[in-house]
Amino acid sequence: MSKETLRGLGLFNLTGRCAVVTGGSKGLGLAMAAGLASAGADLVLVSRHAEEAAATARDLSAEFGVRALGLAADVRNEAEVEGFVAAAVAAFGKVDILLNSAGINIRRPIAELKLEEFEQVLGINVTGTWLSCRAVLPTMRAQGWGRIINISSALGSIGLAGRTPYTASKGAVLQLTRTLALECAADGITVNAICPGPFLTEMNRSIADTEDGARLVGMTSLKRWGRLEEIQGAAIYLASAASSYVTGSTVTVDGGWTAQ
Ligand SMILES: NC(=O)c1ccc[n+]([C@@H]2O[C@H](COP(=O)([O-])OP(=O)(O)OC[C@H]3O[C@@H](n4cnc5c(N)ncnc54)[C@H](OP(=O)(O)O)[C@@H]3O)[C@@H](O)[C@H]2O)c1
Repeated sequence: MSKETLRGLGLFNLTGRCAVVTGGSKGLGLAMAAGLASAGADLVLVSRHAEEAAATARDLSAEFGVRALGLAADVRNEAEVEGFVAAAVAAFGKVDILLNSAGINIRRPIAELKLEEFEQVLGINVTGTWLSCRAVLPTMRAQGWGRIINISSALGSIGLAGRTPYTASKGAVLQLTRTLALECAADGITVNAICPGPFLTEMNRSIADTEDGARLVGMTSLKRWGRLEEIQGAAIYLASAASSYVTGSTVTVDGGWTAQ
């Protein structure tokens, strides 16, 4: 999205908003962070690798003329999560938007999975999302306005063999989203989820040219991978005034996968 097209549109204008994006250093998180910046939002990008997060922040700042910080944190670590929220508040005075995109996938049949692997996926995808939501609530409640956007998946509501940790985690993200929306309804804070279908990010690179990848794409109605820019509209919509009457809901961007 270009800043010229979006900043002119009041409903979608995010100028003056501070958006924290976990997993913002690459993939869908980076694409959505760029979308928010194109609408005017300042950014705090979080991943486990400081230099990568900082370099991405510098690039987006230069491209969109917004302020951007890149910080290292593991979303499973309570103190580190509290730390990046505190750093965002110190830099921008508040957090208006939290977009939880940090996530991983481990694909294998249940009999071939170790307990640690199941716990790793749940720890990042669910506990990390929960900790990040909890950490931003005081600053959002203090200003009576906030937008929380959690990244679930088409696999949050349908099953797929060989993905027990991932589907369990993404289903949990949907229920966390709905319940937190109810808890925050009186505070001016909306909580919604985006359910993407298959996008060719690092997460899917290893299956891109395999039967597994072809099967995944074949399950979509559009019969193709999503393009990274195709996730941006959903994030901008859920972060902006355009979605003020939408909470506890999901926006599905899956090429028609779950329409079937
Ligand atoms: N790609 C798809 O087809 C697809 C479909 C549906 C849903 N999703 C969801 O979309 C989200 C983004 O996926 P993606 O495809 O963009 O994956 P990706 O390209 O692998 O990016 C994942 C991001 O999360 C960060 N991350 C991973 N573990 C973290 C941790 N413990 N603490 C902080 N940051 C962490 C990674 O940075 P570091 O590794 O440097 O920490 C990276 O920035 C995930 O929640 C995923 O489940 C993806």
